Amino acid sequence: MAKMMADKEYATPFSLLQAARLLSHRSRLAKFEEALRRTVRGDSYVVDIGSGTGVLALMAAKAGARRVTALDVNTESVEYARRAAKENRLSDIVEFESLHFADFVPDEKADVVICEMLSAIMLIEQQIPASRHAVQQILAPDGVLLPHQVSVYVVPVECDAMGERFRVGDLQFEALPQTIDSDIVKDLSEIVGLVDFDLTRIQDSVHVDTEIEFVILEIGVVHGIVGMFEAQLYEEIVLRMDDGWRDLFLPLANPRQVVKDDLLRIRVEYTPGRYDSFTMKCL
Ligand SMILES: C[S@@+](CC[C@H](N)C(=O)[O-])C[C@H]1O[C@@H](n2cnc3c(N)ncnc32)[C@H](O)[C@@H]1O
Repeated sequence: MAKMMADKEYATPFSLLQAARLLSHRSRLAKFEEALRRTVRGDSYVVDIGSGTGVLALMAAKAGARRVTALDVNTESVEYARRAAKENRLSDIVEFESLHFADFVPDEKADVVICEMLSAIMLIEQQIPASRHAVQQILAPDGVLLPHQVSVYVVPVECDAMGERFRVGDLQFEALPQTIDSDIVKDLSEIVGLVDFDLTRIQDSVHVDTEIEFVILEIGVVHGIVGMFEAQLYEEIVLRMDDGWRDLFLPLANPRQVVKDDLLRIRVEYTPGRYDSFTMKCL
């Protein structure tokens, strides 16, 4: 893929309208609300990284936090969230910053850091670099990071619609990762674990470089792999794809014909948060 950009340029472009759609993910919000109810105390300082509409920051304030800082790169979302805080009479508690998380170093350490940039298996969104920055620069040593662990899973799939997406008549386009609805693909093997991230212990630079093997269950054409995740939010509270996320389809450059009992070996490489770093090949 094209030459990679410098770190600071990776800010996932999330429009206000997209952020507002997340307000309808009620099971996701209910899980955060419960986690905040259990972790926020009357003297807590809470930071919300990638605050979007500000919903999680406002929940932290309602859970009783003394002070909340909410930050997002999207200025329009920050203004919307600021208006919501005013409307809900929480402006005295929640302050908003319009900036990239890498530019935020608080004037006190936070007891709780919320960071929800999970979509697209941590390839496109900034969960990994943002969590690293949170642990190194924002969170108190005994503070709580929400969520604190993520596991990524993949499965090879047949999907004619995705195989065709990048060809329009006789025009051909470079195939890109795309979010999809799980009902338009056919899984060709069991789902396999790709990588686990302990978000509280992220090293300076994380690079996923792994080989995975799938046992094919039925005849078909592998157009790509589909990625999904599960995140440990707090104690037994787990965020799952059906809390509102969509699977990520990652195309194979050359679709591969397979039959039952074939072993399909794939090498996957990417730097989380740098969507242009992804490479995948059949071995
Ligand atoms: C998945 S949304 C979550 C929004 C909100 N926290 C919620 O739960 O509804 C992620 C947010 O992170 C913001 N974002 C993306 N990259 C960022 C960065 N580098 N620094 C700060 N915010 C960022 C996006 O603008 C988006 O609003």
